[in-house]
Amino acid sequence: MADRITVTLDGPAGVGKTTLARNVAKKLGIAYMDTGAMFRSIGWKLGKEAEKLTPAEIEQRLTAFEFSLSGAGAKTILYLNGTPVGDEIRTEEVALMASAVATLPVVRTFLKANQQKLAAQVSLIAEGRDMGTVVFPEARYKFFLDATPEERARRRYDQLIAAGETPDMKELTEQIRKRDHQDRSRVVAPLRPADDAIIIDTTDLDIEGVFAAIISNIQ
Ligand code: DC
Repeated sequence: MADRITVTLDGPAGVGKTTLARNVAKKLGIAYMDTGAMFRSIGWKLGKEAEKLTPAEIEQRLTAFEFSLSGAGAKTILYLNGTPVGDEIRTEEVALMASAVATLPVVRTFLKANQQKLAAQVSLIAEGRDMGTVVFPEARYKFFLDATPEERARRRYDQLIAAGETPDMKELTEQIRKRDHQDRSRVVAPLRPADDAIIIDTTDLDIEGVFAAIISNIQ
């Protein structure tokens, strides 16, 4: 497909990437690829045991996993071995496991190959930490979103309250800071904007404002 496009959207935890990727995908009629969900699924499947395995053992386990996508826009579905990835991966505990396995080169190499394979099949917006820097360095449109840890914790707090939970603001801010540190300081593919990415500070913008900035850049 000569007119296939890849858009990358990177940024730290809780900055609103998944919601934006979904909205942009809908507007452009393309799929979205939530690569955090891939790392979360691997973290979830390997569990705490991952710490005790050698890289060769992890590599061996990874051969049993394959991600695929169907649909487009908000209806995009991510599958692991043919089963849709569900809400079991959406806890902070699984996020920390994901962030831990994401430091392993063997996991990153495996997912990078799977992500590139999917983008070779369809136009998509890929959201994560290293989409613009490592996985799709040649992408035509690259965006990097940022916001202070306090603002990201506040957004997450509002989401959890809306979902009927009783979150602790201090704990949420701590979790976000811990993940930021882990994601930014790792040796392989650390979180950082690509040199040619458009950086959007979302601290004082609502989701519609960020959406409009991304779409006007692409169009
Ligand atoms: O985007 P998220 O919060 O669902 O991601 C969970 C973790 O996965 C994140 O803390 C770091 C890791 N991750 C990564 O290292 N590279 C990506 N492209 C996406 C996520």
